[in-house]
Amino acid sequence: MSDEAKQVETAGSEFEREFAQIGELDLERSDPSKAEDLLRILNDLKVRHTGKKSAIAGAKKLIGRVAAEKRADFGQLVQSVENKIVSKIAETEEKLKDRISRAKTESERLDVTIPGRRPRTGHLHPITIVRQKIEDIFVSMGYSIEDDREIETDHYNFDALNIPEGHPARESQDTFYTTDGFALRSQTSTVQIRAMERRGAPIRILAPGRVYRRDTPDMTHTPMFHQLEGLCVDKGITMAHLKGTVTEWLQRLFDKDTRTRFRPSYFPFTEPSAEFDFSCFVCHGSGKLGGERCRPCKGSGWIELGGSGMVHPNVLRACNVDPTVYSGFAFGFGLERMAALVYEIDDIRHMFDNDVRFLEQFK
Ligand code: DAH
Repeated sequence: MSDEAKQVETAGSEFEREFAQIGELDLERSDPSKAEDLLRILNDLKVRHTGKKSAIAGAKKLIGRVAAEKRADFGQLVQSVENKIVSKIAETEEKLKDRISRAKTESERLDVTIPGRRPRTGHLHPITIVRQKIEDIFVSMGYSIEDDREIETDHYNFDALNIPEGHPARESQDTFYTTDGFALRSQTSTVQIRAMERRGAPIRILAPGRVYRRDTPDMTHTPMFHQLEGLCVDKGITMAHLKGTVTEWLQRLFDKDTRTRFRPSYFPFTEPSAEFDFSCFVCHGSGKLGGERCRPCKGSGWIELGGSGMVHPNVLRACNVDPTVYSGFAFGFGLERMAALVYEIDDIRHMFDNDVRFLEQFK
């Protein structure tokens, strides 16, 4: 065998020797990350054994220099060795790429039959639900919703509301005071003053909000609770409008057959004043349910709700509204009590515990 032929044989066996480390592996099942490594090694082999500087490339250059009668044989030898190298590399390259792409498909596979992780949807607090229902009713009657501050001066909390000095509501036992003489409002009636000062008359507002009183918490009291205040001032407003309005929203909230009842009372900021009750939405005023005493109304057929009256002339005057031209009615009631009735909650403190097991019952 000529030296040139030996050179070609050596190039072939050299490749075989190096290729063996890949060729003997089970490529179909090899670890995909290993397949990537092997592909890199294979590329390296390809460059070294078929590239411009490879032994085979060198041998090709010799073809022209081999004696004419041996040229064809030598050419064939070079060609067959080169073909073997190229086809082995190509075959292995394909197997490795296939392994890598199968692994990729596998890892990206999506099992659409696995049950989804459902996000827990939140919902409104029972007090918010009841508040929004009542707000909607009043907005449809032409009222606007008024929001105002919870920290007030004595002027707004008491003076402007015609609550004289020495009135029991002013006692520090009832009201929270800051060290520099501000009060946490003890009723939403303060918003009557703020709104009339800002907007004058005529005016129709509904003011929901938090109020604060120094009460010891029990089943029906918490030191912070919510009130809803209504105010309507215009020319010629009478108590008939008060009764009509209160009856209308209670009928829309509960039942068309709901009746209301006004009992004479006293509030400093109204004259005359009345407390109002409505016929029980469970027993419809009979006081009985299936032969038993009806629970929400305690068998009386009536549920006490809030205070109301005709806005006192002094209150109008304090807001620069002329009581000889305008008159109006106002009312206020507690939202917790309302929500407790609607959702049959026996202890209003639960509403502020923020225990989702409790809150989730009211959607
Ligand atoms: N502010 C009163 C309270 O907290 C409720 C009330 C009574 C509001 C009569 C009014 C009203 O607007 O006219 O007990």
